Amino acid sequence: MNVLVTGGAGYIGTHTCVELMEAGHEISVLDNFSNSNPEALKRVSEITGKEFPIHQVDLLDAKAVEGVFSQGSYDAVIHFAGLKAVGESVQKPLEYYMNNVTGTLVLCQAMQKHGVTRLVFSSSATVYGTAEKMPLTEDLPIAAINPYGRTKVMIEQILTDLAASSQQFSIALLRYFNPVGAHKSGRIGEDPSGIPNNLTPYISKVAVGVLPELPVFGNDYDTPDGTCIRDYIHVMDLANGHVKALEKISSTTGVNAYNLGTGVGYSVMDVIHAFEQASGVKIRYRVTDRRPGDAPVSYADATKAGNELGWKAKRTLLEMCEDLWRWQSNNANGYQSQR
Ligand code: NAD
Ligand code: UFG
Repeated sequence: MNVLVTGGAGYIGTHTCVELMEAGHEISVLDNFSNSNPEALKRVSEITGKEFPIHQVDLLDAKAVEGVFSQGSYDAVIHFAGLKAVGESVQKPLEYYMNNVTGTLVLCQAMQKHGVTRLVFSSSATVYGTAEKMPLTEDLPIAAINPYGRTKVMIEQILTDLAASSQQFSIALLRYFNPVGAHKSGRIGEDPSGIPNNLTPYISKVAVGVLPELPVFGNDYDTPDGTCIRDYIHVMDLANGHVKALEKISSTTGVNAYNLGTGVGYSVMDVIHAFEQASGVKIRYRVTDRRPGDAPVSYADATKAGNELGWKAKRTLLEMCEDLWRWQSNNANGYQSQR
């Protein structure tokens, strides 16, 4: 298939571009590089040995988006482009609603105009909000607790309405759990700007000496070691989930949500220990107050993706940490390190 990948220069996007091309698909990337570096796409070409069209376009620029669809003939779109920092979304809600929701509307209008009706959307486990019934299943009500999460809930609803309006549309809403790790080559990986918000990029920056110590946000939760539990998933397993979703939506219509997680929860301390084992580096940490809004426990029931997409996460927490360490130790300053 010929696939347009929005946000294809980002963390999950780059890994998915590799997986798509290795599965025989052709890709074009649309990205405004607001949270990514063109170098990442050069490295995708280096890994796959394939060149592909890159459109430096902002999804809010309807004319430019229209131009991308006029130039190419796409069988499907995978839509990663969006802003994703929970804390920042609380400070800048309008920016988040504008970028994520309006950006998606602009994209969908161009798709509809050009008869492109297959879409895979990056949703998030954050749509389950404060649900306490574990593991999380797709049929739970969705209600997020911060502006970022609400953009995902709104977009899921918009796409559901779109699919209901026309039998042509076929849409997969992929609810990611916590992506970790990097491509085996160590050439592409997560490259957050500034101080990372998320656990594993923070740990890896402590390991390379860019940051002094990891704050562990609370060890008084009702969990075996007192720290929060999450469902960490290797980014290449996640990338493969997109290839499987693409195959699925080629032969179906309507809208479907799928959890992409391993179904296994690990604590913050488990992750620290796995990373220490993978890297041989002792991680300095300090227990601090709880971070507001953190759920004590979150992990997926990924049965639906197994049954309907034929997908299952394969890689272990140790592999996630080994691959993250290879990327981070070879690229201490991300894509600005060496070439
Ligand atoms: P990322 O920031 O690395 O990638 C997003 C890409 O989208 C970036 O390259 C950015 O430049 C681009 N972009 C943003 N706004 C744009 C716009 N208006 N026009 C064009 N390009 C734009 O993020 P990621 O971690 O790869 O996440 C990809 C998607 O998955 C996002 O939608 C995110 O919300 C979702 N998601 C991520 C996680 C996670 O933990 N990483 C978890 C759940 C869901
Ligand atoms: N944590 C720390 N110290 C840190 C960072 C995180 O102890 O410096 C802890 C958190 O308290 C939490 C766990 O590590 O218990 C994971 O935190 P992350 O910030 O890495 O991930 P979250 O589960 O909070 O959220 C992430 C994304 C969301 C997304 C969600 C589910 O940030 O956008 O995964 O996909 F919705």
